[in-house]
Amino acid sequence: MQTPVTILILAAGLGTRMKSRRVKVLHQAGGRPLIEHVVETACQVASAEDVFVVVGCQAEQVEAAVAGYGVRAISQAQQGGTGHAVMVCREELAARPGLLVVLYGDCPLLTAATVRELIALQAGSTTAATVITTTLEDPSGYGRVLRDESGHIRAIVEQKAATPEELAVREINSGIYCFRSELLWAHLDELRPDNPAREYYLTDLVAIFRRAGFLVQPYHLSDPTEVLGINTRVELAQVDRLFRERKVRELMLGGVTIEKPETVIVDAQASVGADTVIEPGAQLRGRTRVGQDCRIGAGAILRDSQLGDGVEIGPYTVIQDSRIDRGARVGPYSRLRMGAHVAEGAQVGNFVEVKKSRLGRGSKSLHLAYLGDAEIGEDVNIGAGTITCNYDGQRKHPTRIGDRAFVGSNATLVAPLEIGEGSYIAAGSTVTEAVPPDALALGRARQVNKQGWAKKKGQR
Ligand code: UD1
Ligand code: CA
Repeated sequence: MQTPVTILILAAGLGTRMKSRRVKVLHQAGGRPLIEHVVETACQVASAEDVFVVVGCQAEQVEAAVAGYGVRAISQAQQGGTGHAVMVCREELAARPGLLVVLYGDCPLLTAATVRELIALQAGSTTAATVITTTLEDPSGYGRVLRDESGHIRAIVEQKAATPEELAVREINSGIYCFRSELLWAHLDELRPDNPAREYYLTDLVAIFRRAGFLVQPYHLSDPTEVLGINTRVELAQVDRLFRERKVRELMLGGVTIEKPETVIVDAQASVGADTVIEPGAQLRGRTRVGQDCRIGAGAILRDSQLGDGVEIGPYTVIQDSRIDRGARVGPYSRLRMGAHVAEGAQVGNFVEVKKSRLGRGSKSLHLAYLGDAEIGEDVNIGAGTITCNYDGQRKHPTRIGDRAFVGSNATLVAPLEIGEGSYIAAGSTVTEAVPPDALALGRARQVNKQGWAKKKGQR
């Protein structure tokens, strides 16, 4: 029979060292809030009803960030330290049998595999708890792990309370533990705030267990990256970089070619199909999904957008909340936003902005245009410099352009406007009235040539 496991994530502190008005666990690394990474890892190990988050500072925002996972929040109104954060959970959690895993919300690189290993080690031992430790070149800021002759943990001393000899210890406490629940709740109230910070330190439990005759074992990780905690923005940037490396590596191993991967940013939730090529400096943000055999040009920025297979995005193109279907081409230097939809095989070229508009199959807008609130059919040609005038100063109005229409260069299309199928709009026209199918619309002053005018001017 498997031991039941409860996971508790501490996330109530403000994170003073971030020097921020926003709580630390809502700062982002790898493209999403720190707390989300930890909750996601917890939910890979246990079912959501067995995962709890201790919230305090900006509790509503933190709760909102994790609401989608179905985990429950427990309130720690005043932050009296990591030990206190567990104490406030007694009512909800003390009756739960088996093991209690404690994770810190500011340690987001941890993987589910490591948590599973931690649980397995504790489940197979008679110790009161297992603590994940690692050895750091520079251990400053972390609690130091003091071992006894048998290799078990004798105590954890916080940086502030450590003696010079203890500070020289480079094995640190990760803040990730697996406790035998019944022993945790039996001894937790023995914690005392007898330290310079006047806080209840969860780490003092180690010495308390020892005095009660129980052992605490270390689970030492030789690679420290997974347990790097974040206290400052310098550490936030380091962890962010590690997330980026992890993500591009995962993509490359999954069949994506990434040129200069150290310059490419792909958020945790973005996905990319095999044989797609990503050029240097490109960014795939949010829930962007890229199909197979695509090319994402240098410096392109895609956010929360979907690309079908074989799509080509030219360099320095910016795309947000938009959809591009199979075989379409966009860019270089174009901008798509607010639900732009480029259908199969359509092309959007340089310096074209597409807002809340659909460009039908095989249609083209290759140079210098603004398409806003426009519904454009199939095989339409939009000439260079075309502008949909969708805004009258108060409201936005739609433009509809039928299949196979040809809009000449520098057309000014004043919405609301209907342009019929197969019609032609003469270059330079200002069009304010509906154009019937198959018609030619001319909306410009007729050209007048004054014979000999220049010569006469010269004689004056
Ligand atoms: C803690 C550990 C330290 C360890 C380090 C690893 C203690 C006393 N020290 O120190 O040994 O090396 O983490 O990163 O545990 N929190 C609450 N309520 C509180 C206080 C904190 O929920 O009252 C949460 C914070 O939001 C944070 C986590 O607990 O997510 C850790 O708190 P933090 O203050 O960052 O602890 P450290 O000083 O880093
Ligand atoms: Ca910390």
